[in-house]
Amino acid sequence: MNALAKPPASKIQPKGIFQTSVGKKIIIAITGIFLIGFVFGHMLGHLQMFAGADKYNSYAKMLKDLGPLLWIIRLALLALFVIHIKYTIQVTVENRKARPVPYYNQKTQVASLASRTMIVSGIIIVTFVIYHLLHFTMHVTHPEYANMTDSQGRVNVYAMMISAFQTPLLLVSYLVAVGLLCFHLSHGIFSVLQTLGLNHPKIDKKVKLTSQALSAFLFIGYASVPIAIFFKVIQ
Ligand code: HEM
Repeated sequence: MNALAKPPASKIQPKGIFQTSVGKKIIIAITGIFLIGFVFGHMLGHLQMFAGADKYNSYAKMLKDLGPLLWIIRLALLALFVIHIKYTIQVTVENRKARPVPYYNQKTQVASLASRTMIVSGIIIVTFVIYHLLHFTMHVTHPEYANMTDSQGRVNVYAMMISAFQTPLLLVSYLVAVGLLCFHLSHGIFSVLQTLGLNHPKIDKKVKLTSQALSAFLFIGYASVPIAIFFKVIQ
C-alpha cells in the first residue's frame, strides 16, 4: 500500500479521552489538586510547632496511629506524584514534537518565568522530597533522630525539628526548596484552575493573582517555622 495513503476509516482507532492532550491535562490538573491539598495540609500541621512540643508531638503521634490507613495515604500520595510527573513529561514531549521549532517572534513575555521553568523546578522538588524523606521520615541522613522520644515515650518530632534548623545549611536548603515549590505552584495552581474551566481573558488576571497569593501564603507558612527555630522564637 502507498505509504501516504490514508487507512480506511474503519481501521482508525478512536483515541480514549486520556490519550488526548486535553485528557492528559485533566489528569495533571486532578492529581495536582490532591498534591496541592497535601502541601497545604502539611504546612498547616507544621504551624503547630508554635503551640509547643506537646501539641506537635501528639499531632505526629495521631498521624502515626492511623496505622494501615497512613500507609494507604502514603501509597496514594506516591501514585498521585508518579502519575502527575508521567503525564507532565508526556505532554511536554508531545508539545515539543508537534512544534520542534519555536514560533518566530515568540511572545515569551506573555509566558511567565514560572511557567517556562516548570520542568526544572519540578525536578528540584522531586530531589528535595527524596532528601526530605531520607532526613525526617527514614532518619538516614540523621540516624540520631531514631532515639528521640519525649517524656511520654512518643517520637519527639518537635526535637528533631529544633535540632535540624540550628544548622544554617539545612535552614537555607529548606527555604530554597520550599521557595521553588511555591514558585512552581504560582503557575501550577493557575494552570489547574484554567484546565478546570476558569479560563477567560476577563478573569485571567484575577485567577493569576489568586494563584500567586496562595503560593505566597504557602511560602510564609512553611518558611516561618524553620526561621522561628533558627532565631530561637521556637525552642
Ligand atoms: C519547611 C518545610 C518542611 C518541613 C520543616 C517539613 C518537616 C517534615 C517532618 C518533620 C516530617 C516527619 C513527620 C513525622 O515523622 O511525623 C515530614 C514528613 C513528610 N514531608 Fe515534610 N516538611 C517540609 C516541607 C515539605 C514539602 C514541601 C513536602 C512536599 C512537597 C513535604 C513532604 C513530606 C512527606 C511526603 C512526608 C512523609 C509523611 C509520612 O510520614 O508519610 N514536606 N516533613
